[in-house]
Amino acid sequence: MCGIFAYCSYLQERDRKYITDVLTQGLSRLEYRGYDSAGIGIDGDEGEPFMLFKEVGKVAQLRKLISESKVDMTRSFVTQTSMAHTRWATHGQPSRGNCHPHRSDNKNEFIVVHNGIITNYKELKLVLEKRGYHFETETDTEAVAVLCKYVWDSQPTKRLTFTTLIKAVIKELEGSFAFLFKSVHFPSEIVLARRGSPLLIGVKTDKKLKVDFVDVEIAPDSDKLDLLNRETASMLSVPAASNSNIRRTQSRAFLSDDGMPQPIEFFIASDASAVVEHTKRVLYLEDDDIAHIADGELHIHRLRKDDGMSSVRAIETLEIELAEIMKGQFDHFMQKEIYEQPESVVNTMRGRVNFDTRTINLGGLKSYLNVIRRCRRICFIACGTSYHSCVATRAIFEELTEVPINVELASDFLDRRCPIFRDDVCVFVSQSGETADTILSMRYCLERGALCLGVVNTVGSTISRESHCGVHINAGPEIGVASTKAYTSQYIALIMMAVQFSDDRLSKQERRRSIIDGLHDLPSQISRVLKQDKALQQLARDTLAKEKSLLIMGRGYQFATCLEGALKIKEVAYCHCEGILAGELKHGPLALIDEHLPVILIMTQDSLYPKVQSALQQVKARKGQPIVICNDDDDGFSADDRLIRVPKTVDCLQGLVNIIPLQLLSYHLAVMNGVDVDFPRNLAKSVTTE
Ligand code: F6R
Repeated sequence: MCGIFAYCSYLQERDRKYITDVLTQGLSRLEYRGYDSAGIGIDGDEGEPFMLFKEVGKVAQLRKLISESKVDMTRSFVTQTSMAHTRWATHGQPSRGNCHPHRSDNKNEFIVVHNGIITNYKELKLVLEKRGYHFETETDTEAVAVLCKYVWDSQPTKRLTFTTLIKAVIKELEGSFAFLFKSVHFPSEIVLARRGSPLLIGVKTDKKLKVDFVDVEIAPDSDKLDLLNRETASMLSVPAASNSNIRRTQSRAFLSDDGMPQPIEFFIASDASAVVEHTKRVLYLEDDDIAHIADGELHIHRLRKDDGMSSVRAIETLEIELAEIMKGQFDHFMQKEIYEQPESVVNTMRGRVNFDTRTINLGGLKSYLNVIRRCRRICFIACGTSYHSCVATRAIFEELTEVPINVELASDFLDRRCPIFRDDVCVFVSQSGETADTILSMRYCLERGALCLGVVNTVGSTISRESHCGVHINAGPEIGVASTKAYTSQYIALIMMAVQFSDDRLSKQERRRSIIDGLHDLPSQISRVLKQDKALQQLARDTLAKEKSLLIMGRGYQFATCLEGALKIKEVAYCHCEGILAGELKHGPLALIDEHLPVILIMTQDSLYPKVQSALQQVKARKGQPIVICNDDDDGFSADDRLIRVPKTVDCLQGLVNIIPLQLLSYHLAVMNGVDVDFPRNLAKSVTTE
C-alpha cells in the first residue's frame, strides 16, 4: 500500500536534479507495494518555499512531469529536506489533487505525506471548516495538514516547536498512520510520526556514529487540544510554547568528537528496500514515536510521557543487498522469486536443521519451548497466502504435537472476537509483518495473555517486534505482489516448528526423521520442477490461456495447494479459479463439471490417493478432461492423460513441490493475458489497513 520516502541532507551540497532523482528512485523501490499515483515535495525558490509535483500513474510518469517542468534543476542546497509518496487510493479517486503531499493552504505552510487511514477526519474537517479553513481534496490526509495550520494559527506567540505542534496534532487523530511533516515555519526540518504504519530512518555519515542507538527524549505531557468537543475558538487550549521545560538530551549517536557539526544524510521510508542502496544503518520507529530531524540531528520523542517504552531506539545494520531487490536477468520479480525457491528454502533452514543429527533448533523459540509444550491449543492466524501456509501444515502439527489446532483468517478472527485464553499459543504468519488484520489479531491475543509467536519475513516489522518470540523465514525481500517464495519458506518454517515442538515425543521420532530427510532433498526437487517451465508455458498457452474459469482439486495436504494455486491464478491471471477439497465434490461442485470446464487435479501419492482416484473417475465420467499433477513414477495413467509430473517427497512436504507448477502456470497465464505481473490491479503488497 502507500509508500513513504524522504531525503534529508545536511552540509552536503546537492542540486535539485540530484534530490528529485533520489526521491523518485526511492519511490520506484516502493512501487511493489502497489499504488495509483505519486508525488514529491521539495524545497522551493524565493517566494515559493515548497514545490509540489504530483502525477497519476507510475513513478515514470512523475519523473516525466518533473523533467518537463520549468524549474531550475541546477539550483543547489547545502541543507534540505524533501518528501515523496506513492498513493493507493482509499478516500477519493486517484487524481493529481488527491495525490500526496497534501498542503494546509494555498501558500503550502504545512505539507504532509501519509500512509494509513484517519478515521475521524470527517469530524475534524467539519470543525475546521466551521472555523473558516478551506479544503481542496477528498482525502483524509488533508484534514491533518489543515489541522497543523489551525494549531499554528491558534497560538498567539508563535513559539511552538515543530515537535510540540505535531504532538498536539497527532493527539487529535484516530486511525492508523505514518506521517511526514514539513513547514515553512521550520525550514529544513522534518517531523515523522507513526502509529500502526511502519517507518524507518536510514542514517548515512562519513564518520562512524558514536553509539548505535538514539535516546528517546522525555518531555512533559501537553494537553490535548480537544478540538472536537469545544465550541468556540476562544476556548481552545493550545499546547505550551517551546520554552516550556522540555528535557532535551543531546542524541549521543550524532555527537562529533570535536563538537563540530558533521555532514549527514537521512533516508526515511516505509520499508528497507528504498533505503538499502544508500545506507544499511537504520532505525525503526515505534508506535507513538515522534521523530524530528533538524540541523543534522535526529531526536526522538514520545507522544505521551512515560508509557513504559524503551528509552532508546537501536540503529541496526540491514542485511539485505541491493541485488536482492533488483530483477536481474528475469522479466518480472514474480518470475525471479519463483526461481529463487531452491535457494530461499535453504536459507529458511540454514543454521536450524542439522541433517546429520536429524534435529531442528529454532533459536527464537528455544526459551519458550516449555510454555509451548504445555499449551492447551495452538491458533494460527494470518491472511491470504500466509493463511494457506497454515492450512498446509495444520495436519502435521496435529499429528506431531497432538494439541488442538485452530487456523484462522485474521479478519474473521477479529470479526468473531474469538475466545482466547492465557494457555493458548497464537502464531501470526505474515510475509510483510505489517498486515493490519494480522497485527490487530496479535494485539488482541497479547491483551488476553496468550503467548504470541511471529513467523515473518521482514525483519524489524511490527509483528516481528511486538510478538513475544518467533521465527524469521529468511526468504529474502519479496517484491512481486503475488507471494511465492514467502509461501514455501513459511511452510518450511511451520514444519520446522512442528518438528521442534514435538521433539520430546519418542513415539514421533521416526516420523520427525523422515521429515528432516525430506527437507534435505527439497531444494533439488524444486529445481527439477522448475526445469519443466517451458512445458508448463506451453500448457498454459494451449489449454488454459483462453479460459474464464478453472477448478483446482485435491484433498488432505493438497487442499492448501489447491487454495494457494487458485489464489495465484486469480490475482495475477485475472481468471476465476477455485480451490476445491475433492471430498466436497459430491456436495455441490460436481454440478459444474462437463467437457468445457478446465480442471486441475492434484493426485500425488499419499494415503488419500485412492480417494483422489475416485474423484478423477467422477470428473472423467462427466466428460471432464482434467490436467493431473502426479508423481514421477506413477504409471496409472494412459497416454491421453494430460500430466504434470513432480518428484515424490514425504506427504507433509509434497505441497512444497506441487505448488511450483501452479505458480509457474499462473505466471505464464498472467504474461499471456497482458497483466502487469508484479503489480496486479487493485492489489497492494502490504495491506496496512483493515
Ligand atoms: C497473495 C498475497 C496475499 C498476502 C496477504 C497477507 O499472493 O500475497 O494474499 O499473502 O495479503 O500478507 P502478509 O503475508 O504480508 O501478511
